[in-house]
Amino acid sequence: MNSVGRRLRLAPSLLSADFGALGAAVAAAEAGGADALHLDVMDGHFVPNISFGPALVQAVRARTKLPLDVHLMIEEPGRFVEAFAAAGGSTLIFHREAKAEPRDLIPKVRSLGAEVGLAINPETPFEAAQPWLEEIDQLLVMSVHPGFSGQKFLPEALPKLRAARAAFDALGSKADLSIDGGITVETAAPAAAAGASFFVCGNSVFVGGSVEQNLAGLRRAVTAGAGDEVR
Ligand code: DX5
Ligand code: ZN
Repeated sequence: MNSVGRRLRLAPSLLSADFGALGAAVAAAEAGGADALHLDVMDGHFVPNISFGPALVQAVRARTKLPLDVHLMIEEPGRFVEAFAAAGGSTLIFHREAKAEPRDLIPKVRSLGAEVGLAINPETPFEAAQPWLEEIDQLLVMSVHPGFSGQKFLPEALPKLRAARAAFDALGSKADLSIDGGITVETAAPAAAAGASFFVCGNSVFVGGSVEQNLAGLRRAVTAGAGDEVR
């Protein structure tokens, strides 16, 4: 199998939403055609910021049927995967750079009934994730240094996406190849052309304009970027 027919999906990141009106942001994303929601969990150690924990994931779970991708930017994800699975996380994404052994954590997450995502930071080579490609449901390539929304896309992510796309296609894998950080109508197209299938979008969905129109613009950009490879 190659990448022909790969389905492109958009996952708004709630980190960029108004936390005082989170229910409305969730509803707007769902109504606007989001395919999943992305929830950025930060512990102040793995990244220089603190966001939210399982209680918020649970509150969002109660308000939408969309899959919830929980991006664990935390030093010791193994200590918290039970709580995030119980809170309703559909996919638990942990970092290759965290204090976690994929050999142990991948089966643990699966045993909790969640899908498994592995994330790599901008300075981490694709090769660090390669041994685990057959065992994960999602590889998330960071295109900013994690910690904050609204940063500029780092183009170094593009060759990493191309390498990952080639590796997934060689395996015949249907795993998601996600890109996270600085995705806008300008950067979404090259990311799609490089092989990304799943686009995390924070500020480009929730800051300025309407969520529905922002999602429609991003949908056009990823479809155009992927060209003939998409049905
Ligand atoms: C960064 C987070 C991203 C971020 C995306 O640490 O992992 O998910 O919130 O926001 P934008 O799209 O604004 O870069
Ligand atoms: Zn994220």
